[in-house]
Amino acid sequence: MRRVTLTQFLIEQQRKGLMDADLRLLMEVVARAVKAIAVNVSKGALAGVLGEAGSDNVQGEAQKKLDVIANDILIQANEWGGHLAAMASEEVEEIRPISSDYPRGGFLLLFDPLDGSSNIDVNISVGTIFSVLRCPEGSKAPTEADFMQPGTAQVAAGYSVYGPSTQLILTVGDGVHGFTLDREMGSFIYTHPNMTIPEDTKEYAINASNARYWEAPVQRYVGELQAGKEGPRERDFNMRWVASMVADVHRILTRGGIFMYPMDSKMKAQGGKLRLMYEANPMAMIVEAAGGAASTGRERILEIQPTKLHQRVPVVLGSKNEVERVVRYHLEA
Ligand code: AHG
Ligand code: MN
Ligand code: MN
Ligand code: MN
Repeated sequence: MRRVTLTQFLIEQQRKGLMDADLRLLMEVVARAVKAIAVNVSKGALAGVLGEAGSDNVQGEAQKKLDVIANDILIQANEWGGHLAAMASEEVEEIRPISSDYPRGGFLLLFDPLDGSSNIDVNISVGTIFSVLRCPEGSKAPTEADFMQPGTAQVAAGYSVYGPSTQLILTVGDGVHGFTLDREMGSFIYTHPNMTIPEDTKEYAINASNARYWEAPVQRYVGELQAGKEGPRERDFNMRWVASMVADVHRILTRGGIFMYPMDSKMKAQGGKLRLMYEANPMAMIVEAAGGAASTGRERILEIQPTKLHQRVPVVLGSKNEVERVVRYHLEA
């Protein structure tokens, strides 16, 4: 079998006219940062990288050491390459324009450096999520306003999962492609071409401890799944919740399912739990490119006009027929 590396894959994508050289090189830099994060994650207690960093981020969360390490790796890897105008991160309050020590390029990179960080200390899969936008033309001094583009404007999105193996999943809109890290060779190998999400599923993912706070349409939907064969759906459904969005979405890309972090009464003031710009949008682009759907319950995630860098939204994504049903229940309510 011919082993296609990420580098070969990206060059072939460029030859097909699906990306330009700058975007290809940016993807290479992100992949290199992902490898460095994978090394740190896998060393765990041996490298003293577990536990709290002793600081809080703009989200009001206590940062883990690996949140900070992954954020630093992504910034350092990306700031000198010349492809970016600015970056934004879950862990940093303000945007980070590329310093004048380096050339400025045309892209904006947004990332969740370590997703699922509550799972780090228990050795459960975590990941990195990223989104690429074009910096509006002529933006010599990028500002937060340049980032306020809907998810439909993303030119690329992806995530990595640091699990039993490290995988990198990418889309530039033309299908979803998965790569597995060959640790000995230090390269990503193209192992999962054209990943697709089946339209129907028997598996759902939601943090059910919030059930009493959910809105009526979500209570109705989940109640019907839990009723199984005896309920209106007339079949049984299984539940999974890793509490790392990357791992839950990766399972859905692999075998289907629906993932929900819906609006609830506790989070109403902040708009939801997950962050639009570096969690919901990139995952929505990937899920749609794989044939699935992604909604807040009321509108398509990719069409939301952002107003704030760290904006939060409700998220319902995965197998199309289930997502459409949840949206229908919201519209009927
Ligand atoms: P992060 O670790 O980047 O802050 O994201 C955590 C998110 C997401 O990965 C996951 O789906 C969700 O939080 C889990 O929330 P609960 O702890 O409420 O289950
Ligand atoms: Mn966090
Ligand atoms: Mn996250
Ligand atoms: Mn995170």
